[in-house]
Amino acid sequence: MHKLTELNEWHTLTQHYQDIGQIPMRTWFQNDPHRFSQFTAEACGLFLDYSRHRITKQTLTHLHNLTQAVNLKSKIESLFTGECVNHTENRPALHTALRNQTAPPLYFKGCNISAMISDSLAKMSEFTIHLQTGQWKGATGKAMTHVVNIGIGGSSLGAQLGTQALKKYSVSPLQIDFITGVDPTELVTLLTKIPPETTLFLISSKSFSTLETLTNANTLRNWLKDQLGDIDLSPHFIATTANPEKALAYGIKETHIFPIWDWVGGRYSIWSAVGLPLMLLIGPAHFKAFLRGAHEMDEHFKTAPFNRNLPMLLALLSIWYIHFFNTHAEALIPYSQCLRYLVPYLQQASMESLGKTVSLNGEPLSYASGSVLLGEEGCEGQHSYHQLLHQGSQIIPVDFILPMNDNSSYKHHHELLLASCLSQAEALMKGKTPEEAYEHLIQTHLTKDAAQKLAPHYATPGNRPSNILLIKQLSPYHLGALIALYEHKIFVQSAIWNINAFDQFGVELGKQLLPGILNDIQSNKAPINQDGTATSALINMIKHHWNTL
Ligand code: F6P
Repeated sequence: MHKLTELNEWHTLTQHYQDIGQIPMRTWFQNDPHRFSQFTAEACGLFLDYSRHRITKQTLTHLHNLTQAVNLKSKIESLFTGECVNHTENRPALHTALRNQTAPPLYFKGCNISAMISDSLAKMSEFTIHLQTGQWKGATGKAMTHVVNIGIGGSSLGAQLGTQALKKYSVSPLQIDFITGVDPTELVTLLTKIPPETTLFLISSKSFSTLETLTNANTLRNWLKDQLGDIDLSPHFIATTANPEKALAYGIKETHIFPIWDWVGGRYSIWSAVGLPLMLLIGPAHFKAFLRGAHEMDEHFKTAPFNRNLPMLLALLSIWYIHFFNTHAEALIPYSQCLRYLVPYLQQASMESLGKTVSLNGEPLSYASGSVLLGEEGCEGQHSYHQLLHQGSQIIPVDFILPMNDNSSYKHHHELLLASCLSQAEALMKGKTPEEAYEHLIQTHLTKDAAQKLAPHYATPGNRPSNILLIKQLSPYHLGALIALYEHKIFVQSAIWNINAFDQFGVELGKQLLPGILNDIQSNKAPINQDGTATSALINMIKHHWNTL
């Protein structure tokens, strides 16, 4: 395969950028009353307005040609048919199979994985009913009232996102909490909330070896022993893992283990038993609607033409800015408190997938891959970092995500939320020229001299791109479609960049160094230098501080 930046299609895009890259979008909007309708697309109840971009119809054609030059279609096919797309770990990435409830059987290494998936879903559903109806009893015979998910990263973020976003769809009185990291503050807060006799702990870890997760599991198990005494605590512990041997060795009963598999990446696992906390909240029927939304987005991704294909559009627009406008960051701004975990969820999905420096065949990339994803719920963000979006020296393309909520109560709040989102997008696009700023200042009765001095500070560059993604209703179906949309955006980017979106060896390095450093912290001997003197110096400083307490 040709190197990306050596392709003719790439050169065409470079030239095209020279031709149109600096034209103000304002002009296009002024000259073309139909611009909005030409740059919109819709699927699965998600409506994308991508008219506020520095693109013309021609840009889309060139970007489409690029997808053809890199054989994107066949790469998509490889993803869905279970080819070894994660070649460094010799695995497919079959998260799409998890949400396909109607497919003909799919086989991997001789196993009917469709059957494994539906068995797991049935086991999850049965367990959910048992728990919700109080048939699952704790060690002292009482029904469970609380569930604590012990997990981190992909073994927590999706369930946190889902349970926050879909509270309205709760069919369960169960109280669901999460514990992720090892900061004892999190633990102490949790312990004030959970009743020992009626709390179920769900250890969610694909590897069953993540230090934070096992540390929390051990501490909580010891806490429960202290609280309930020397009785059989097994009804209080279940696990979701791809490493059942380790879970068994840990003392989890075989029947209490829910499977995931090595062909599902951690950050793509919310569709599996890793999504159990979500099913416990919203029930099996809503969980299936969540899967259906994602599956229908999969179908859209596979079949929709380029200029109506939501994942492809998001991916290619992102690539357009990263490479030709030299952007380094993107913002994701949900105007919804319900979606506040969407940003951390997609930070992992995007940055763990795309943070790579070599191509599939191990050669260093000669172009950027990935970008920083930042974001925050819209109203909050407007009063903090949006300044950088409006007047900072770099362009940061934005995705505004706006659920079209039922506005029958607190109507004014809904109107304000909508106005906030739209005015941010418009301000980014229009900006304010120095002349407009000057005029504005004169109207506030400043002298000409003062207005002239202040105008450059009030001027706002504008011409800053954004998408607006409207969600018909924040339901299980639409949340499923939304997450799958971004998963596929990430896949398309990885396919264009010719990188593996499914491994994450970088994060492993920190994990490998940790035991040595922990040993230095716990030992009475002087620390062994790990990286010159900085690490040892800090360890000594903190140990000294602890000794003075
Ligand atoms: O440290 C990164 C990571 O490996 C993620 O990819 C994963 O989602 C998370 O840790 C948790 O891993 P596990 O599910 O194996 O505990």
